[in-house]
Amino acid sequence: MSADWDWGSAQLGSAAENYQAFMGPGMFRPFAEVLLAELEVSPGERVLDVACGTGVVSREAASRVGAAGGVTGVDLAEPMLDVARAQPPPDGTEITYMQGSAEELPVDAGAFDVATCQQGLQFFPDRAAALAQMRRALVPGGRLGIATWVELDRNPVMARISDALGETLGAELGAMVNVPFALNDPDELRGLVEDAGFADVRVRERTLQAGYPSHTEAGRTIVLAGPLASAFSAAPSEAQKTFERRATELLGEYATEDGGLSAPMTTLELLALSP
Ligand SMILES: C[S@@+](CC[C@H](N)C(=O)[O-])C[C@H]1O[C@@H](n2cnc3c(N)ncnc32)[C@H](O)[C@@H]1O
Repeated sequence: MSADWDWGSAQLGSAAENYQAFMGPGMFRPFAEVLLAELEVSPGERVLDVACGTGVVSREAASRVGAAGGVTGVDLAEPMLDVARAQPPPDGTEITYMQGSAEELPVDAGAFDVATCQQGLQFFPDRAAALAQMRRALVPGGRLGIATWVELDRNPVMARISDALGETLGAELGAMVNVPFALNDPDELRGLVEDAGFADVRVRERTLQAGYPSHTEAGRTIVLAGPLASAFSAAPSEAQKTFERRATELLGEYATEDGGLSAPMTTLELLALSP
């Protein structure tokens, strides 16, 4: 599975920029705001953001902890970190971005009050190791916040894009859109976190309205925003255009008057305490 959706070796090129521009502000940021509010992240605290990507959660965390606190973001993919480093941090704050694997976090033990992992755990080859590392990084009583999408069928923009890919570029490419939605069982998620030794584990569903800047560019831009980019770019340009037309058609019901898209997205949201 991870071989098909390989953030580490993917030559992402402009994919990370597409991710930040097209999905950062309207799709990932609203969930980041809610996750950090639920974690009650406050001024002066130290936050570790695992699989930080382009830094969407890291910047929200920095605005909460302020200059007296600190935020460290860790991600496997240098192109995502390059985009993160290019975004200005909130006024007066500093964010440290580090390249590294969630399974071997390059941070000291007990150095953080809060650890977040938004839409990352589903991609890790060894989820148990990653959770053990997050526990190691936290102080006793530290808080953990994790988000992983529910199943693809309940996240309509991505489901329509998967359908359009399947119809126009082949079932295999369409099915790859399932990977980010594969850790969708609340009991499985809770079990992983409990097995890693966390306490007071609470899982709930969270649905928010996600916004995207362009209805007609959504299909192409979202596909070009991650590891699917290389497979899509290898397809003949006529087939790519057929996909774009079909995606625009299927996404029509979510088009907004200003030419954007707006649709609900649902994630599992897990909160837990390090003993
Ligand atoms: C969907 S993005 C989420 C990024 C960010 N948390 C956000 O909310 O926007 C998934 C991220 O997981 C990272 N990732 C995947 N496998 C990883 C691993 N084993 N260790 C660290 N990061 C990983 C990818 O490079 C990518 O940036």
